[in-house]
Amino acid sequence: MRVIAVDGPAASGKGTLARRLAQHFGLAHLDTGLLYRAVGWQVRDDIGNSAAAVQAARAFDIDWLRIPELRGEAAGQAASKISAIPQVREALLEFQRSFCRQPLGAVLDGRDIGTVICPEAPAKLFVTASVEVRAGRRHRELQAREIPSIYAEVLQDLIERDARDSQRTAAPMKAADDALLLDTSGLDADQAFDAALSYISPRIS
Ligand code: DC
Repeated sequence: MRVIAVDGPAASGKGTLARRLAQHFGLAHLDTGLLYRAVGWQVRDDIGNSAAAVQAARAFDIDWLRIPELRGEAAGQAASKISAIPQVREALLEFQRSFCRQPLGAVLDGRDIGTVICPEAPAKLFVTASVEVRAGRRHRELQAREIPSIYAEVLQDLIERDARDSQRTAAPMKAADDALLLDTSGLDADQAFDAALSYISPRIS
């Protein structure tokens, strides 16, 4: 099985790393955060309504992944809230599992890939960095895209998101016992990629 599971907190660089790994090994890539963002976006005006979120997750349509606003902070916050609902996770499970099972293999990034979605993956990474480093990266990325950003607010949002993602009872964010912990606080994107490669290459034939 050629599956690489890449988990980690928001703004850890796991998405960039997962895309690069997929390209390197010629594997399909799924950013599973986008599924939760798409569902959150559908119900953003009534975010406290769990029944509506469950209904949206059950009606999930792959076309929703093309909505441009999904990459923004509003969709991220909405995703973090609705992803705590067990029936929402359940509704999105099979889509992710079938993505893992494609014959040519895949890279999936998210929060629970190595623990819940694909525990049998032969290569698992848990990518992390200190919350201050992640906030700095996110802040600079927003500024580069000319989106107004205040560092202290970005930091506060990440602290809240980390707490929600790791403290929920349904599939909380956590490293699988057999995952490589990759702390990128002191690494640039190339160094993180090299460290990931030397761990993954012997595991992915
Ligand atoms: O990785 P991201 O920032 O796009 O994820 C947005 C939110 O979706 C995140 O705060 C928690 C949720 N999520 C999840 O619960 N499980 C996943 N596999 C991926 C994302």
